[in-house]
Amino acid sequence: MIVSPSLLSADFGNLARDIEMINQSKAQMLHLDVMDGVFVPNISFGFPVIKHVQQLCEKQLDVHLMIVEPQKFVTQVRDCGAHIMNVHLEACNHLDRVVQQIHDAGMKAGVTINPATPVCLLSDIINQLDLVLLMSVNPGFGGQQFIPNTLNKVKELKSLIKEKGSNAVIEVDGGVNEVTGKQLAQAGAQILVAGNYVFKASNPIAAIDTLYNL
Ligand code: DX5
Ligand code: ZN
Repeated sequence: MIVSPSLLSADFGNLARDIEMINQSKAQMLHLDVMDGVFVPNISFGFPVIKHVQQLCEKQLDVHLMIVEPQKFVTQVRDCGAHIMNVHLEACNHLDRVVQQIHDAGMKAGVTINPATPVCLLSDIINQLDLVLLMSVNPGFGGQQFIPNTLNKVKELKSLIKEKGSNAVIEVDGGVNEVTGKQLAQAGAQILVAGNYVFKASNPIAAIDTLYNL
């Protein structure tokens, strides 16, 4: 399993220490949650912080934009060193164009859908995507409970990807732990985001190992 720990649950007073832990771990990515207080009812951190994270982090940066009008920030996200730029389907009036802009900027394109957004809405964009990020909580906060219907959505997405011959990989975000992680792995998820499960663990490296071995 590919593990993408979410920096949202890290100790913001000790970011360098927590990033060093990620460097030493089996995590292949670091998940960065950008919130604007409009698309979601919370504000997290922005580009100046991500630039510093990038200087310290040896893993791929998986940037999850929970903001309105993400198309305005494609260049800034790229200049932060992002490997993947995830935009919400619900935040884009012209999703096809945004995906093209992300590719033109040299990043992998991910589209994220909220728990109440059906997988079938991805049908006409799936062949352009490198990744789909399924939210398994309502975005905005770490430490929430996993929404079980996500397991059905993973299976549905897996068959859509197969039917269309898409190369998109399936990532899931929210409430991931060793129990929900196992269920997600069985359903077909390929990347797991985990915030609280990793950073609030007494041994974060071991928590990452557990997810990695699923
Ligand atoms: C929620 C964020 C998540 C969050 C996950 O809006 O997108 O990435 O950090 O946190 P946990 O794993 O604690 O649910
Ligand atoms: Zn996220």
